[in-house]
Amino acid sequence: MTHRFKLDLPRRPRRLRRSSALRELSCETRLEVARLIQPLFVKAGEGKPEPIASMPGMFRLTIPQLVEECRTLCSLGVSAVALFPKIEAALKREDGREALNPSNLNLQAIQTLKQALPEMTVIADLALDPYTTHGHDGLLDRNSGEIANDATVEVLAEMAVLAAHAGADMVAPSDMMDGRVGAIRAALDASDFENTAIMAYSAKFASAYYGPFRDAVGSKNAVSEVPLNKGSYQLNPANRREALAEVELDESEGADVLMVKPAGPYLDVIREVREATDLPLAAYQVSGEYAQIMAAAENGWLDLKACRDESLLAIRRAGADVILSYFAKAYAEDFAANAP
Ligand code: PBG
Repeated sequence: MTHRFKLDLPRRPRRLRRSSALRELSCETRLEVARLIQPLFVKAGEGKPEPIASMPGMFRLTIPQLVEECRTLCSLGVSAVALFPKIEAALKREDGREALNPSNLNLQAIQTLKQALPEMTVIADLALDPYTTHGHDGLLDRNSGEIANDATVEVLAEMAVLAAHAGADMVAPSDMMDGRVGAIRAALDASDFENTAIMAYSAKFASAYYGPFRDAVGSKNAVSEVPLNKGSYQLNPANRREALAEVELDESEGADVLMVKPAGPYLDVIREVREATDLPLAAYQVSGEYAQIMAAAENGWLDLKACRDESLLAIRRAGADVILSYFAKAYAEDFAANAP
């Protein structure tokens, strides 16, 4: 069959898609390994890395294993990690006081890691959920049932100073209390940690995608079966104007890096924040985003690497400068393997 039909088209966008070389030339967005931050889970004591059931491929590491993992990450070009401790149940209290124990697991991990590997950028999360029996990020007022804002901020500011003292390069308040960035900045400066940076979880939504993370750090409500509802401090997933207002507040209070979290379901927010500020912007591809790709891939329903890379590229295209992702190491490994 011969085709005679010919369109008279001044523009044929497919010209630039004809070969892989042309597609490379016209590629608008690339994701460099240096933009990735690997979140890692730390456990006390010894023994093998503990697999996290809802996050295939992720493990809770002892401190020596953490150091080794960070050496590998550094050699792959991933030079920043965000640490999350799994605190033993026996150390949890209603007020999360273990957070302020100067020799707690998290602070020991930061200190050991920075001593062994000073070139690794270490980001310390600031929130009470790994330390409280109820799993909330702040102090729970039993009478009102509310999470106390200002009292929590006081604790977070102390946690920030302890983390900086242990060697953290950045502190990352993930709690969503009002006014915490300013209070943390003031506390750090007052203790001569004016060079410790703040990565603010500015637009953190009350998301169901955090489920696997709560398994990983054991922050599911330890004292009741009622699922945690963090809606009195985390943002309503329906609200973008409120997210922008939070970002503006964190910037004015002295945040060095802003963050949107989760990432994939909130690409519109990432784009809007990118356009509203000149500060570096981070996005957190959270545990549930990781778990859904892993689960589908394990069933043979999705191509793991292709979906992983596409999900990360989309976050970058939306405007994130840096991405926290559980895929960071695997992405970097494949990047190194494919390098010319
Ligand atoms: C809590 C915290 C959470 C995450 C990071 N810090 C969970 C929560 O708010 O309950 C989630 C990260 C993830 O899901 O990967 N301060």
